[in-house]
Amino acid sequence: MTTQEKILEILEKNKGVAISGEEIATALNVSRAAIWKAINGLKEKGYNIVSTTNRGYCLSQENDILSASGIKANILNKDISVIYKESTISTNDDLLLLAQNGCKDTIVEVSSFQEGGKGRLGRTFVSPKGGIYISFLVHFKNLELKDITIITPMAAVAVLNCVKKTLNLDLDIKWVNDLFYKGKKVCGILTQACVDVENSSTSSVVVGIGIDYKLDLNTLPLELQPIVGTLIPNMQNTECNTNKFVGTLIDEMFNMLKDFPNKNFLKVYKDHSIVLGKEVKYTYNNEAKTGLVIDIDDDCALLIRQESGNIQKLNSGEVSIKFQK
Ligand code: BTN
Repeated sequence: MTTQEKILEILEKNKGVAISGEEIATALNVSRAAIWKAINGLKEKGYNIVSTTNRGYCLSQENDILSASGIKANILNKDISVIYKESTISTNDDLLLLAQNGCKDTIVEVSSFQEGGKGRLGRTFVSPKGGIYISFLVHFKNLELKDITIITPMAAVAVLNCVKKTLNLDLDIKWVNDLFYKGKKVCGILTQACVDVENSSTSSVVVGIGIDYKLDLNTLPLELQPIVGTLIPNMQNTECNTNKFVGTLIDEMFNMLKDFPNKNFLKVYKDHSIVLGKEVKYTYNNEAKTGLVIDIDDDCALLIRQESGNIQKLNSGEVSIKFQK
């Protein structure tokens, strides 16, 4: 980490509050001249830092620039490496490549734009500016296939908790990986596993989350405009702290992962489910089917009662609500 990045982390942690040059110099063991130089560099990058002779340096509250230092200033778990890229092809692809090359660190990669975002079932995930694209590289010992399937719903609850805590908004969950706000999709999750061929008892998993944070919905492809929403309308002059939002999400995610494969999150998942108790359409073995969702079981599979009375367990795939207006 450079001196500039370390100073930015301190300023982000104390956002809106002045911190003296002496305090920063002692904390980082650098000269006052080095601090002055780094602060000027930050100002050139667009940071609004007020410098006063008596009180020191203060990063303005309105400054909302996403960065690795800003994210780190807002996470409790300090053992995680955070990478920030203004733009990338896909944060999932970046971390899968690291895992394939043998990386055993826990890494979070965040980006503000993806040129080739990946969605579930081989789809693309349109990832314009204003969204938050985040992937987690985590490693497990003796991970069973049935446990991998609970990671996506677990991540959905982490997003739901983060959005409630930071923006005070209530989201709904559509099995298995979509989150909705006021009937529009605002988040999708894609979990990809990478098994270590040398040591098949350890697996690396990449969990990717795409959040429509502050999108200009008019810039989306026309076919997406009726179904995609945004947490914060971009016209709305809401004061955002995007670093805090991402930091909170990272903490929520790791709080859940430390209990893995505990199913404590399942109650919240079910309480916010929009498919429980609904008639749904789905595909099973390439056949179109319908049925009533009677439960979501401990494997996060849907239990669907068909007209015949037969109960079908759906572990993966997609459902759509049958009589939705
Ligand atoms: C879906 O809705 O089909 C899942 C979308 C998952 C998108 C996220 S954005 C961050 C990460 N990087 C990707 O390329 N995909 C996931």
